[in-house]
This record gives sequence, structure tokens and C-alpha cells, in this order.
Amino acid sequence: MRQFEKRILCIGAGHVGGPTMAMIAARCPQYEVTVVDINAERIRAWQTDNLPIYEPGLLELVRSARGRNLFFSTDIEEAIDDAEIIFVSVNTPTKTFGEGAGKAADLQYWEKTARTILDASRANKIIVEKSTLPVRTARAMERILNANHRNIHFEVLSNPEFLAEGTAVEDLESPNRVLVGSSDTPEGRAARNAIVDIYAHWVPRERIVTSNVWSAELSKLAANAFLAQRISSINSISALCEKTSADVAEVSRAIGMDSRIGGGFLKVSVGFGGSCFRKDILNLVYICESYGLDEVARYWESVVSINEYQKRRFVKTMTNEMFNTVADKRIALLGFAFKKDTGDTRDSPALVVARRLIEERAIVVISDPKALANARADLSDAPPGRVVFEQDPYLAARGAHAIALLTEWDAYRALDYEKIFDSMEKPAFVFDGRNLLDHEALYRIGFSVFPIGKPPLKQS
Ligand SMILES: NC(=O)c1ccc[n+]([C@@H]2O[C@H](COP(=O)([O-])OP(=O)(O)OC[C@H]3O[C@@H](n4cnc5c(N)ncnc54)[C@H](O)[C@@H]3O)[C@@H](O)[C@H]2O)c1
Repeated sequence: MRQFEKRILCIGAGHVGGPTMAMIAARCPQYEVTVVDINAERIRAWQTDNLPIYEPGLLELVRSARGRNLFFSTDIEEAIDDAEIIFVSVNTPTKTFGEGAGKAADLQYWEKTARTILDASRANKIIVEKSTLPVRTARAMERILNANHRNIHFEVLSNPEFLAEGTAVEDLESPNRVLVGSSDTPEGRAARNAIVDIYAHWVPRERIVTSNVWSAELSKLAANAFLAQRISSINSISALCEKTSADVAEVSRAIGMDSRIGGGFLKVSVGFGGSCFRKDILNLVYICESYGLDEVARYWESVVSINEYQKRRFVKTMTNEMFNTVADKRIALLGFAFKKDTGDTRDSPALVVARRLIEERAIVVISDPKALANARADLSDAPPGRVVFEQDPYLAARGAHAIALLTEWDAYRALDYEKIFDSMEKPAFVFDGRNLLDHEALYRIGFSVFPIGKPPLKQS
């Protein structure tokens, strides 16, 4: 059997655990990297070429290391006992019950993992928080873990993950920064160096940043809050553009050229989604409230409120422009994933749009290149006959009164809209929730076109 220099384990084989460990294994062949999960189906999928998540380049990355030094397993206890370093990347969703419901992070998966680690360990270990967690969770983790009478020491570090879905492999290959937070004790510094050494195999040293544990935990929540805040800021301006005939693309270009502001993340849309932004901001809000910082809490809460407003506004424009009723009208939703290049639909704005249209009694036809399985699960409770799933965008649009573009998949730009127009009911509408399409061209074909934050192009 091959001897590895180090044995690394990751608990949680999801969107973060799978890709991050595949990258570590690919870049560090001298380490054995094992990924475990309680979800046996997920683990089985990681062992095949039909991976449980879609990310460009991920299959090639996994295949480069799988079976060599990258392993997927459901034998959690044995893997814990074998490992020197354990990354924990289990889910930390918003709590749906009890104190803090709707805002606080639900730490039950996290705490269960801590207890499993405790029970299965027979030697000292470094525990790395990869999940996004409330600031000061590492303290709770340490208290649970180090309350053992077996003289085993657990050193808890925070190494939050900044990858974005859709570009996970790229982000892991060349991260803007890797953040490692540790205690300023001899054990803490030694553990920090061990984690820094892993990343230093492919990440330039100057991009590996160290801090105390609490700063690392809070930096991840704050980074997501800042990113979402930029989207809500430009989306709020888009509402004003629509009232004043300003063009939000021109406004965002002009403000983004200010080097103090920068041009990134200023793209208008139907709203942000994904499993993290809303959850992490609400968690930040809850933490602020629990420290009595109500003004700070309200400030960040408004980022989420604007996002909800933007989704509502989008559907309201649709119903208003379609003669104040969409009842029994077929409406094609192009895109259901929360962004392009992923099949992830968690907190996707498309879900809110679909549900509101269903409430208005429309017949919603959902099309997406990668997210249809998730869309089916998300809308499994929809009333019979109200939702149709159709992979082919041309078939989805056939007989529809309107198209709502909700995910910015590149392929949607290249569709033959003349052909689509010919197959639709008239008047035919396009509501572009991502400002992706060529609006003038669509107008020339005969569509009435409603972008976000720009004057609409209405057929007379
Ligand atoms: N998705 C992202 O883009 C992203 C980016 C950065 C950080 N994060 C954070 O990373 C964490 C994980 O997110 P994700 O998107 O990978 O979640 P996910 O739901 O895709 O994966 C989490 C996995 O953990 C497993 N799990 C739960 N409890 C377990 C247990 N006790 N033992 C073993 N496995 C267990 C689940 O079965 C699941 O497969 C979250 O805290 C999230 O906020 C996510």
C-alpha cells in the first residue's frame, strides 16, 4: 500500500467539500484526501462520471486524482480516526424553527459532526471550519471537542471558502486569497502552518492570508454581505432608471469606472440567489441583533429586502404589461439555476418568479440546460397542470405568450428568436431578467421587450 505524507479528510461532499478536496488532491499527490458524507447516494455519484454537482472542469479535475489519492466514502468514523487534518464542510442552512428562526444559522449538522469527530478520534487532530459559520463558532466547537477525558487535543481553525458556484474550479485553482484563521498559541500557530503548507503547493504565498479565528469567520459573512450589497445597490438604481428613462447599463459603466468603486458585481438582474447570500446576510443580521447592534442589523437586512423587492417588481411588470392577467397563459422561463454554469437552484430568483406566476394561475414552462432535476424537486408541490418542464427552449417557448429569461446561460443569447417568435402567441413578450439578449433585435423581430433598468421597447 502506498504511504502518504499526510491524511486529510473532509466531512461533507457537497458543492464546497467535493471541489475543494478534488483541487487539494490534484495539486498535492503526496497527500491522501478522503471525502465522506452521510448521503450515500452523493458519495456513489462522486465515484462515477455522473458527479452530483455540475461545475465546468470539475469532472476532469476529479478524474485526475480519483483512485490515486482522492477517495469518496461513507465510512465516516474510520476516516476520522485515520486523518490528521479534518475539514468540515457540512451545510449550515438558515434555522427554520425556535429561537432565531428565519435568520440564525442552523448548527445542528455542524454540532453532530463535532460529536462524531469526538467519538471516533483516538489521537490529536486539526479541525478546519470550511463551512460558513457565525463568528465565534470555533469556540463552541473547541468546547465540545476538548471536553474529552482521553487527553486528545483538537485545534480548531477557520478556513472559509470563497469559491463561487459556476466558476468553482477556476476560483480554487487561482483564488484571490486563501484565509486561515487560528489561535495565537503554539498549537494554533503549528496548525495554521500545516494548513498554509497545503495551499502553498499551488497558491502564491502572498495570497495566503492569516488572521485570528474570529476575523476569519466574520470575513466570510462580511464578504458575502458586501457582494450581495453591490447587487442590491445596482438593482435599487434599476427601479429608478425605469422611472426616469436612464439606462442602468450606462449608469453602472459610469460608476464602475471610478477606481474607488470598481466595475465588478454591478450587473443588474432579477435578484441574487444561491444557497449563501441571503442565508449569510440574515445570519449576520441575527448576530448583530444578539449583540444589541440594531442599526447595523437593519442596514444589512435592507440588502435582502431590496432583493425581495426586485423579484416582486419583475413579476409585477410581467402581469401589468400582459394586460393585467396571466391566468392560463403559457409563460416560458428560460433558466432556473440561480446563475449560469451550475445546476444549483437553491434560493434561485426563478423559483420565486415561478411561484408567483403560478399564484396568478399562469402555466409555467421551465427550461434549463442543467437544473431541471432540481427544478422538478423544488416545484413538486405545484398544483397539477400548472408547471411543465422542457429541456428544449424552442419547445418551451412554443405556444407561449411570453418568455422570461431568468438565468444568463450563454446559449440563450444564441437562440433563433425569429423561429421562437413565429411559434409564440401574439402579441409576444420578452422579459429579460438578466439583460442578456439583444433587445433591439428582438424588437425588430416583433417582440415587446422589457429589460431591467432600461426603457422598454413596446410594439404599438
Ligand atoms: N455553495 C457555495 O457556493 C458555497 C461557497 C462558500 C461557502 N459555502 C459554505 O460551505 C458550507 C457547505 O455548503 P455546500 O454548498 O457545500 O452545501 P451542500 O448542501 O452542497 O453540502 C453539504 C454536505 O454535507 C453533508 N452533511 C451534512 N451533515 C453531515 C454529517 N453530520 N456528516 C457528514 N456529512 C454531512 C450533506 O449530506 C451534504 O452533502 C455551507 O456552510 C456554505 O455556506 C458554500
